[in-house]
Amino acid sequence: MKSKNWVYRQKNDQFVKKAKQLGYLNRAAFKLEEIEEKYKIIQNSKEILELGSSPGGWTQIILNYNSKTNITCFDLLDMKINIQNISFYREDFLKYDFNNLKNKFNLVLSDLAPNTTGHQSTDHLRISRLIYEIIERLEIILKNKGSLIFKIWKGEEEKEIVKKLKQIFDKVEYFKPNSSRQESSEIFIISRGFRLNEE
Ligand SMILES: C[S@@+](CC[C@H](N)C(=O)[O-])C[C@H]1O[C@@H](n2cnc3c(N)ncnc32)[C@H](O)[C@@H]1O
Repeated sequence: MKSKNWVYRQKNDQFVKKAKQLGYLNRAAFKLEEIEEKYKIIQNSKEILELGSSPGGWTQIILNYNSKTNITCFDLLDMKINIQNISFYREDFLKYDFNNLKNKFNLVLSDLAPNTTGHQSTDHLRISRLIYEIIERLEIILKNKGSLIFKIWKGEEEKEIVKKLKQIFDKVEYFKPNSSRQESSEIFIISRGFRLNEE
């Protein structure tokens, strides 16, 4: 999108305005808020892993729903919030060895977004690659019966991803928040009841 159009859209976006009023770091916060209003997963999660956490809009929402939870955040960029129950790793999660973390998580959240090209199917493939990388790590990061919530831009890989998820989770659902721009191909996939293979 041309930058003039982006500025115009931001100025007139009700969620951007509302985010400012509420002191949220960004409009992305509302998406997680809507997810939590429907699925009530954050409030029952003691340990949460957030991949693609900066600047911290989602983290603010996590803390609103569950101020006692421990949050482990990964991002290439700095967070704009820093409080005691957040452990922040400024790292590429692809290069991190998650065996180094002591705990597994009840909930893994991903709002990861790769660098975009503007070419829909290329961007879809890039985000899908990140999702496959998360799925590969689930055995070491997610507790039995845990949940995984991630953003994806819709496209051809999505069916394969959902098929994989259905093999390892009890329930897999799509969710499009009202705060997600209708013209955006973004969708969230909510997977619950991870069946950890404990062999
Ligand atoms: C849409 S933003 C996340 C917004 C965040 N959920 C919030 O509410 O503030 C996507 C983030 O993914 C991060 N990201 C992309 N690839 C990454 C990687 N391989 N490892 C860690 N972070 C990554 C980007 O740096 C970016 O900050």
